[in-house]
Amino acid sequence: MSLLETHSLTCAFDDLIAVDHVTFNVEKTEVFGLVGPNGAGKSTMIKVLTTLRRPTSGTAIICGHDITQNPAAVRSMIGYVPQMVSADGDLTARENLMLYSKLVDVPSGERKSRTLEALEFMNLADVADKRVRQFSGGMIRRLEIAQSMLHRPAMLFLDEPTVGLDPVARASVWEHIMQLRDTYQTTILLTTHMMEEVENLCTKIGIMNHGKMIAIGTASDLKTASGNPDATLDEVFIKFAGAEQATPGGFEQAARSRRTARRLG
Ligand SMILES: Nc1ncnc2c1ncn2[C@@H]1O[C@H](COP(=O)(O)OP(=O)(O)O)[C@@H](O)[C@H]1O
Ligand SMILES: [Mg+2]
Repeated sequence: MSLLETHSLTCAFDDLIAVDHVTFNVEKTEVFGLVGPNGAGKSTMIKVLTTLRRPTSGTAIICGHDITQNPAAVRSMIGYVPQMVSADGDLTARENLMLYSKLVDVPSGERKSRTLEALEFMNLADVADKRVRQFSGGMIRRLEIAQSMLHRPAMLFLDEPTVGLDPVARASVWEHIMQLRDTYQTTILLTTHMMEEVENLCTKIGIMNHGKMIAIGTASDLKTASGNPDATLDEVFIKFAGAEQATPGGFEQAARSRRTARRLG
């Protein structure tokens, strides 16, 4: 059984169809990489799957629960790391985690031990009592992943977890994501712009463009489907997602992702 399956999932903002009748599955312990140009609908897809936004039509089943009929059950099974920085800079790492563990209903007797476990797991124990304001971008991302694992979610959604990070910080974030899967059998769905990341680390890749899932498969499936098994994934991406187009909202999108990158960098 798939851990996640969508059925013609659609999310529109007035006449803009951000997610357009998308149907796909993610199997247990898979690391699914969702790629696509800015404005493709990746973040909207993640918001709908994490029940933060209701679909306009269609639905998805996550861990056996329907996102529209039983969003609370879905929320109890998943973790979410948003594209924007979500940790509180005025608090220490430990304070952020203690607060978050309350938010996600970790039983009060377990909050301290889960916080410590998450700090150690994400290699943040040494800086547990430093204010997050002093953290590097990579440390903030690792803290946010620590937050998202406190209630031991079966599935984790990460929206651009490595955007704006230098290569060393990026590698460390990836290492911890993979460890999370190996240790807790967490199924992962993440978005990224880095084709080398999806190629090396994702078990399956979905390419979105204009709200549609236009190609899905392993890296080698996608290369074959592009007509050139020797293509690089960048070439596959260009083949499927097409040349850069002037889309409305492009400036705003760019400004937004740069802002995020600056705050993390
Ligand atoms: N809250 C919103 N209201 C109106 N339009 C939105 C909203 N959020 C996203 N969009 C639009 O939906 C499309 C998909 O955006 P998004 O899901 O953020 O794409 P991506 O994450 O792939 O860059 C874009 O055209 C974007 O401008
Ligand atoms: Mg996005």
